Amino acid sequence: MKPALGVLVSGRGTNLQALIDARLPIAVVVSNVAGAPALERASGAGIPVAVIDHKAFGSRAAFEDALLEVLRGHGVTHVVLAGFMRVLTERFLAEFPDRVVNIHPSLLPAFPGVDAQKQAHDYGVKVTGVTVHLVDAGTDTGPIVLQEALPVHEGESCDGLRARLLEMEHRLLPAAVRLLIERRLQRDGRRVRIG
Ligand code: GRF
Repeated sequence: MKPALGVLVSGRGTNLQALIDARLPIAVVVSNVAGAPALERASGAGIPVAVIDHKAFGSRAAFEDALLEVLRGHGVTHVVLAGFMRVLTERFLAEFPDRVVNIHPSLLPAFPGVDAQKQAHDYGVKVTGVTVHLVDAGTDTGPIVLQEALPVHEGESCDGLRARLLEMEHRLLPAAVRLLIERRLQRDGRRVRIG
């Protein structure tokens, strides 16, 4: 089957842009936030977009059903979370076993959740980094695909650190997605082997 990516977004979409620039096969971009700048990036590149606002649904299952319908409708084979601020359930993930990845701006398992860059900066770490992982039903807990470390500069501001991490994200996410769709990832428990 030819790979077709569904990219889920919630915000400005610079990671989506990196996927577009890498010419990865994106079939559809879905946002849970109407008016997310990421949608304009997709439309600008001629990629179909959909908005599925989680607030419009009575349950998480109903929200995910709507997501699945759009993804299936576009023949999506793999899902990329690129700044998507919702946690997905087992039921959704079972539709794409080991075929959903997420980008997170810290060296997991340190600093999961929202604003990892600020968490790491506030903590005073000397090294942080970026992780791309397979998605499970936890928050930033899935098996690690790619990870790269970044030393924090002496006296560096949080914004400076954030910008350097973002550049790293834009390199790591397309690389991991390419490995995924080229079927070069083999998961064995928590370990992901790159073949
Ligand atoms: C990125 O830092 C990503 O790692 C995090 O949310 C941010 C999204 O940025 N999960 P963008 O929308 O891709 O510009």
